[in-house]
Amino acid sequence: MNAIADMPSSASAANLADAASTAAPLIDVHDLRKRFGDVEVLRGVDLQIARSEVVCIIGPSGSGKSTLLRCLAALETYDHGEVRIEGELLGYSERNGKRVRASHGEINRVRRNVGMVFQQFNLWPHMSALENVMEALLRVRRLPRDEARRRANAMLETVGLAHKGDAYPARLSGGQQQRVAIARALAMEPHIMLFDEPTSALDPELVGEVLQVMKQLARDGMTMAVVTHEMGFAAQVADKVVFIDQGRIAVQGKPRDVFHDAAQPRLRQFLQNYFDRNAFWTRGADDAQPL
Ligand SMILES: Nc1ncnc2c1ncn2[C@@H]1O[C@H](COP(=O)(O)OP(=O)(O)OP(=O)(O)O)[C@@H](O)[C@H]1O
Ligand SMILES: [Mg+2]
Repeated sequence: MNAIADMPSSASAANLADAASTAAPLIDVHDLRKRFGDVEVLRGVDLQIARSEVVCIIGPSGSGKSTLLRCLAALETYDHGEVRIEGELLGYSERNGKRVRASHGEINRVRRNVGMVFQQFNLWPHMSALENVMEALLRVRRLPRDEARRRANAMLETVGLAHKGDAYPARLSGGQQQRVAIARALAMEPHIMLFDEPTSALDPELVGEVLQVMKQLARDGMTMAVVTHEMGFAAQVADKVVFIDQGRIAVQGKPRDVFHDAAQPRLRQFLQNYFDRNAFWTRGADDAQPL
């Protein structure tokens, strides 16, 4: 066998390199640890998120779900381990084999393709929906105003709010405000979207419209990590469900395996609590009884 003849041409070598980077996880978290004072809140989290994968993160209050997402968006520093985004180390750089805090500019560069949507929509009250979406395009991306407006309008259309561009947040429902917040994140053309309980501040009848937008994003191939209590959404949309308990990933797997077959006692208890809370109809011995 001729090793030289078997070597890929430089063009196909580039293709192979591309294919390898596409196959590598978009997010790669290794032994992530984070403490607040004496309390270790993340206690060694390993998580990979592939391109176009939808990962739903569930777990009890205080288990570290938001802290994990915030570490992925560099909104929180971490003490130990690695967060890699598209192969690049977030938050630190390596100099002479030593790890040092990365500069703000460097952190922003590595996280530029990470979008985040929060429980509280955090829209500017003095700006219209359109202006809210345009803001980062003008200030961070430094797009010309016309182009920012065009892109912001397109994003509002994506979330079904093309007709609300001129409306101020106070005149929008919670569901509409959250969809504007999603449009604002999408306008930055992220490679991954992080959602931290995006529907839990909403009245129940408004939850569906936001989940609908998120389902469409998933269908369009967006990579997503979603902290949620919407188990139906997780069951339908997630490629992988991750159960975090006391700062560790206790269980992860396909929705069916996590929701139906998991034997892990803390997960069973968590799901049982959820189903008990959400059960409003029970069948009595002789008749169906509303609770
Ligand atoms: N900035 C902070 N300073 C001190 N402690 C914090 C801080 N942020 C979070 N914590 C603590 O870290 C733990 C994990 O919090 P986190 O918000 O990540 O939990 P969570 O799983 O998102 O909970 P929830 O479901 O209630 O949103 C909690 O005990 C919380 O009190
Ligand atoms: Mg939280």
